[in-house]
Amino acid sequence: MTGHLIVTDEEATRVITMRRPEKKNAITHEMYRLMSEAIDSAQNDPAIRCLIITGGSGVFTAGNDLEDFVATATADAGPFGSSPAIRFLYSLAHNTKPIIAAVDGIAVGIGTTLLFHCDYVLASSTATFSTPFIHLGLVPEGASSLLIPRTMGHQRAFAMLVMGRKASAEEAREAGFVNVVVAPGQTEVEAHKVAREIAALPAEAVAISRRLIRLPPEELTRRIDQEGHLFGERMKSKEASSAFKAFFSRKRA
Ligand code: COA
Repeated sequence: MTGHLIVTDEEATRVITMRRPEKKNAITHEMYRLMSEAIDSAQNDPAIRCLIITGGSGVFTAGNDLEDFVATATADAGPFGSSPAIRFLYSLAHNTKPIIAAVDGIAVGIGTTLLFHCDYVLASSTATFSTPFIHLGLVPEGASSLLIPRTMGHQRAFAMLVMGRKASAEEAREAGFVNVVVAPGQTEVEAHKVAREIAALPAEAVAISRRLIRLPPEELTRRIDQEGHLFGERMKSKEASSAFKAFFSRKRA
């Protein structure tokens, strides 16, 4: 497969790689669509025991493509739930296979919130995590308002989601959403080791145990919908449109 998203099956692992380095792997509608497909089509494939999501070396993702945000904010977005980002989040919420993230560099916006749907997260020592929704006049998405406080408690969630503070790899590990910090360039190699470890475990017991420790998909999708409605409204706000303009005019300033 060519383009900005590469999906390969390696042994029992499906590897989903964002590859748009010239735009810091900012996620386009097409990339969301292909990521959903890669996750959904793995569900009934017993040969696939694990998923890895990665941005390759040096970057995870700068989050949703801001040009797409502007286009969506100024267009009639169509029925709720039809947006490729929301459909991708539903795929994550319904996913039953262990999913590992390899984060080598920046993880912005959905690049951080998607990690809370993952089961094992490896970060390089240079990785950073931020959800700058507030700076864009936006609100949390991807059920992050449910999952982030559940992982790190209200106060740290407030600093991250409401104040838009960035976390280092070590802070992310301390906060509980990164399992292990490795050297830059090593996240994928280490992710494959974890995938092999998981693939060697009894498949049915893994699936049942994973389901027991996660929130039910319906609870996740309910929050994704609630946040999504508010997010959609905020995208049309003056706060958001001036933040988008500021981003795209910053290099001309
Ligand atoms: N959407 C679209 N394009 C993006 C992008 C995004 N989310 N993030 C980065 N890019 C583009 C830049 O416009 C730039 O393109 P250009 O070279 O054609 O001008 C290119 O990627 C490189 O980004 P740049 O800003 O030059 O790199 P940097 O290392 O100085 O900064 C970031 C990297 C991620 C900190 C910065 O690009 C940024 O803040 N991006 C926006 C992140 C964001 O708000 N995401 C949405 C969260 S809800």
